[in-house]
Amino acid sequence: MIRIGAIAVGLFFAAVVFLWSFVPGVITYFTEPTEKAAEYAFHEKAHGPEGGFSFDGPFGKWDYAQLQRGYQVYKEVCAACHSIEYVAFRNLEELGYNEAEVKQEASTFNIPEYNADVAEVTTRPGLPTDHFPPVPYFGAGDPPDLSLMTKARANGSNYVYSLLTGYGEPDPEKLAKYPEFETPAGLYFNPYFANVNISMAPPLMEGIVTYNDGTEATVSQMAQDVSAFLTWTAEPTLIKRKQTGWPVLGFLLFATILAYLSKKQIWASIKPRKKD
Ligand code: HEC
Repeated sequence: MIRIGAIAVGLFFAAVVFLWSFVPGVITYFTEPTEKAAEYAFHEKAHGPEGGFSFDGPFGKWDYAQLQRGYQVYKEVCAACHSIEYVAFRNLEELGYNEAEVKQEASTFNIPEYNADVAEVTTRPGLPTDHFPPVPYFGAGDPPDLSLMTKARANGSNYVYSLLTGYGEPDPEKLAKYPEFETPAGLYFNPYFANVNISMAPPLMEGIVTYNDGTEATVSQMAQDVSAFLTWTAEPTLIKRKQTGWPVLGFLLFATILAYLSKKQIWASIKPRKKD
């Protein structure tokens, strides 16, 4: 008993010392609150396009024409700097291209391959089974692979849309409040990027692609299309997942009713209904 008492007393004092160690920090927190960096003031929350994406919500669906336009934007604009290495050419069939089109598409890409005969890396035309090749980049910054980008950022599809449409000048009112804030040379102000200065120059400008289906290639339209495409690359089974959810919920509801009825059946003899 005495031993347990001694341990308890020891623990009590250890706890007091431990908790006391936080006191100076708590005092400083209130007396000298840390000032947030100016970036916090300029940062804005991502939002989707007006009207949202076709795949939003529990009944969302892919808009295949949009995914194809998004692929075109990726290929003609983003692919200059960004790879999508987790996507294979044959996956493009899911966007509504047929086998011959995919074969043709793949063959327009050069795939690097180690060639043992000459002990060098050489290139060959792509096959449907190949993945999109890595993209060499020698500019400023480090363009990340975009295959999983919409999953790698919170609210990813909306984030990519906001990022692409969000370039501009810092709010003058906020600038007056934070005069020390600046966008360093070589970076671009974008309030949706984590630290609001990004090394990617605004990649989209009106009419930079020409859509086959006659859709007008505004910046907002292209941003929306390529965000949809990147949502597909990150989660091609998104719609299937949503659709599977409904039968699963239905089954769970059915199983719950069954469980309730069998519970009533089992307890019926033990807890008879009150007779009155
Ligand atoms: C000229 C090269 C270039 C082009 C073209 C380009 N990007 Fe980028 N991108 C970059 C660089 C560099 C970065 C890294 C930025 C940084 O970390 O400051 C980047 C970063 C990004 C990011 C990541 C932002 C984050 O949160 O980390 C996304 C998303 C992105 N680009 C999407 C696109 C899309 C979509 C397109 C096509 C419409 C595109 N980019 C075209 C160079 C480019």
